Formats: sequence, C-alpha cells, structure tokens
Amino acid sequence: MQDTGKKLFIRTFGCQMNEADSDEMYLALAQAGYRLTDDMEDADAVLLNTCTVREHAEHRALSLVGRLKFWKQRRTGRLIIVAGCAAQRLGSELRRRFPHVDLAAGAKDLDRFAELFAFAADTGAKAFPVAQRNAPLVAYSTIMRGCSHACAYCIVPAVRGPGVSRDPGEILAEIKDKAARGAREIVLLGQTVNSYRHAGGETDFPALLRKAHAIESIQRIRFISPHPGYINEDFAETLERFPKIARHMHLPVQSGSDRILALMKRGYTRAGLLEKISLLKTRVPDIAVSTDFIVGFPSEQETDFADTLSLVRECGFSFAYCFKYSPRAGTPAAEMPEQPDGITLEDRLARLLAEVKETAARRFEEQVGTVQETLFETPDKGRTSTNYWVRTKSQQTPGTLVKTKITGLQGNTLLADL
Ligand code: 5AD
Ligand code: SF4
Repeated sequence: MQDTGKKLFIRTFGCQMNEADSDEMYLALAQAGYRLTDDMEDADAVLLNTCTVREHAEHRALSLVGRLKFWKQRRTGRLIIVAGCAAQRLGSELRRRFPHVDLAAGAKDLDRFAELFAFAADTGAKAFPVAQRNAPLVAYSTIMRGCSHACAYCIVPAVRGPGVSRDPGEILAEIKDKAARGAREIVLLGQTVNSYRHAGGETDFPALLRKAHAIESIQRIRFISPHPGYINEDFAETLERFPKIARHMHLPVQSGSDRILALMKRGYTRAGLLEKISLLKTRVPDIAVSTDFIVGFPSEQETDFADTLSLVRECGFSFAYCFKYSPRAGTPAAEMPEQPDGITLEDRLARLLAEVKETAARRFEEQVGTVQETLFETPDKGRTSTNYWVRTKSQQTPGTLVKTKITGLQGNTLLADL
C-alpha cells in the first residue's frame, strides 16, 4: 500500500448521519494518501464535521475551528477542512470568519467531496489505492439524504435539502460489502428513514427492510430515525415477521400537546401518535420505544408542557433525548411571537428529565428475569435487540447473537447469565 505518511484527525459533531458522512469523507482522504490518527498534534490535516441543529452544537464546532488557527501555525503545510451542516448554513461566511480554513464543504457537497478536496489541497485525489478496511461490527448505511418535511423549528431541510432516497440495489450492495468485511449489525440512516421510497422503483421502507433481512451474515438491523407519519400496517407487520429487525425504535415525538404539534407542523396529533405506537405494540409486544422532545417551543404554556409530561408515562418510553428549544435563523419558529425565556427552558427541561428518568428506570427494571437476544460486541459486552447494554461474566465471540437471561442491573447496564 502506498502511503504519503500524512496523517488525518477527524472530529465529528452531531448525529449518526454525520458519523456516516465522516466515514465517507475519510475514504476520499484515504485515497489521497492520508492515514488516521487520534492525536490532533500528530496530524497534518484536520477534518471537522459540524452540526447546526441547535445553536449550542454549532457553537462548539465553531469554537474549535477558531482554535485550529494556532494548531495550523505550529507546523507548515497543515490543512483544515470544515464540513457538514454548519458549513452549509454559513456558506462563504465561514471562510470570511475563519480565513485559516482551507476547505469548507457543506452537507450538500458530500457527493463531490473528493473533487473539492483535490482542488483545495492541490493533490490528485484517487491517486492512492486504499487497503480494504475491516468494517466495524456495527456498520451504518445512509439510505436517504435530506428531508422533505418542514417542521417549524428545524434547519435540516435548509442545510441538507429535500429528501432523496438512494437506489435500493446500491444500498443492498453496500450492506453486503460491509457484511463481507465483518459487519453483523447494520443501522439504516435517514432524517425520516421510514419515508424511504426509491423514485425509480417499487421499494418502500418495509420492502427495503425485508431485502436487508435476507442478507445472511447480518444478524441485526436497526434504523434511525423514523417519523410517526410513516408507521402503517405493512411496517408493523414487517417488524413482527422479521426477527432480525431490532425490537427498538427511536421515534422522535417532540411534544405531547396537540396545539404545539400543530404549530411545529409535525403532521400528527397526540391521539394519532398513540394509535401508531399501539399498532407497533400490538404486533411487537416487547418493543422498546425511545424518543426526542423539545421543551419551550414558542408560546408553549404550562398546560402544553403538562401534556408532554403525561405522554412520557402514557407511552412508557425507554429513553428520551430532551432538548431546550433553540431558535435557528431562517426557520418559521424563529419568527414566532412568545419565544421562551431562559428560566422557563431550564425549568421545563429539568422537570421533563426527571419524568423521563423515572419512566425509563421502570422500563429498565422490568428487564430483570426476561430472556434477551444479545449481540456481543466485545467478549463480555453486547446490546439487546431492545437496545440495552448487557454484561456477562462468561466470554463470548464478538459478533455472535446469544440468548441471555437478565439477572440484575448495574448502573445503566443489564447483568446476564447465558
Ligand atoms: N431546537 C431544539 N431541538 C431541536 N431539534 C431539532 N431542531 C431543534 C431546535 N431548533 C431536535 C429534535 C430532533 C433532534 C435531532 O433535535 O428533537 O428530533
Ligand atoms: Fe427536521 Fe422535521 Fe425533517 Fe426531522 S422531520 S429533519 S425534525 S424537518
């Protein structure tokens, strides 16, 4: 293998899709002769993949971009690449604010990243053959990019563009390739992953799940994140009939108040949501459902917030990410009257977190005494189909699926016998 001796440091902010995008950009950079390092001081190039979904995420990424100026000055020939959603949102402002950045590639530029890089770095990208890497045990596949919804608070459609589903043949070939290189679990990624429908053909999301299920060495299939609007009979039945599909769903609901859901333009009501979750639980009784919430959306009242609190209990979420509403410039919500104040945001976040903690703890404790199919990722640690970590005393071969009897709890890990 040819090697330029150049080293690359990657830092990724934000969601799993960003992680997958970083992997893809890494391949382009590996083609140009870069090898990974996890020591930034040792690196010749830094790739920062940024997030802009909330102001806090963008701020953390940009302050690192600012600090990189000194990193670059410490050695000549160093290269700074800033990619992802914040780069997309800021456009040319990024280069103006941070002139030391060599290449800014927005989230929409991923397809031509190799080309952009070759131009910026003045190297012939694709000049070096890349050794076949082993795939990680848990591998990702982006099945659709962008989002065609228009949730009032959300900047994703603006920075990633409308939803586009990839060709199913390409996706399946990619999964097979990762499986051949050692992947045992595949995570399908998309902003509204279950809205997948390939324009050229008949393949919708349940059909794609069934096709992925047929790939023999894949033991487990997950997907992030589904939207309640695309949960239907066919989808629920597919989960029921195809056991390699994980008994867990991360289903962002955002709020439990009909008034706020309508203002958010989420496209469902609380009753509609409960119906979808009950459809899932009828077909797959042991399914674990986790979610995302936003507190303090403009004009949210105590009564609205109470509806969110009660939804946690009613749905019995196994887990929830809770976010303070963050106004993003250019989104309709940022222009709405009655923006929340900091005290309200803090107060509601704390109360929601307490409610989630209690409900999630109850779910967690219920696992004791059950038998869980566990995919081991290390000799003594694996994840259940319902997405809990399991630890066992006996040694397992990583990548194997084992039925484990849950005997106890330790922190946020289940303890198991075989
Ligand atoms: N403010 C707060 N949270 C947000 N999210 C998306 N946009 C915003 C925003 N402007 C949250 C949603 C989404 C998750 C990825 O981020 O809960 O599901
Ligand atoms: Fe944003 Fe809504 Fe699309 Fe999710 S579905 S990415 S919240 S616009």
